[in-house]
Amino acid sequence: MAKAHVTTTINGEPVEYLCETQQTLLDVLRDELGLTGSKEGCASGDCGACSVIVDGRLVCSCLMLGVEAQGRDVETIEGMADGENLHPLQQKFLEEAALQCGICTPGILIAAKALLEKNPDPTETEVRYWLAGNLCRCTGYDKIIRSVLDVAAESKGA
Ligand code: FES
Ligand code: FES
Repeated sequence: MAKAHVTTTINGEPVEYLCETQQTLLDVLRDELGLTGSKEGCASGDCGACSVIVDGRLVCSCLMLGVEAQGRDVETIEGMADGENLHPLQQKFLEEAALQCGICTPGILIAAKALLEKNPDPTETEVRYWLAGNLCRCTGYDKIIRSVLDVAAESKGA
């Protein structure tokens, strides 16, 4: 079957690619574009490891087709830092030892970024609910939640 030609924006850069019409955005990112920061945990929309931001909305890239990125603005974990400068959430996760493994952490960071862009001053309950779709089997989540709240508080004070 002929591949689809997609023109999109990824991390602020215009990008074109060819993909199978049934290929997920996650597979396109990883297998066609070499952006392997987004991970496949479940492939069913349950774990959040594949989280990306599309037109300002948090989505599971395992549930979106690559062809659906046509004309959209996609943000992945690779675009979160500004060159050598980490995003405040990345910096805070380092400082507060909130980092988990390479499978779950990219999705958690992208989800937290999407939250603070939508709601810059969330309550702890709102952070917990928002990140409930990002699963890690290994942590109690407290350092993650604290880091997000601390970034929000510092942004408010800035
Ligand atoms: S891999 Fe997409 S939600 Fe788990
Ligand atoms: S799944 Fe990443 S540390 Fe638990």
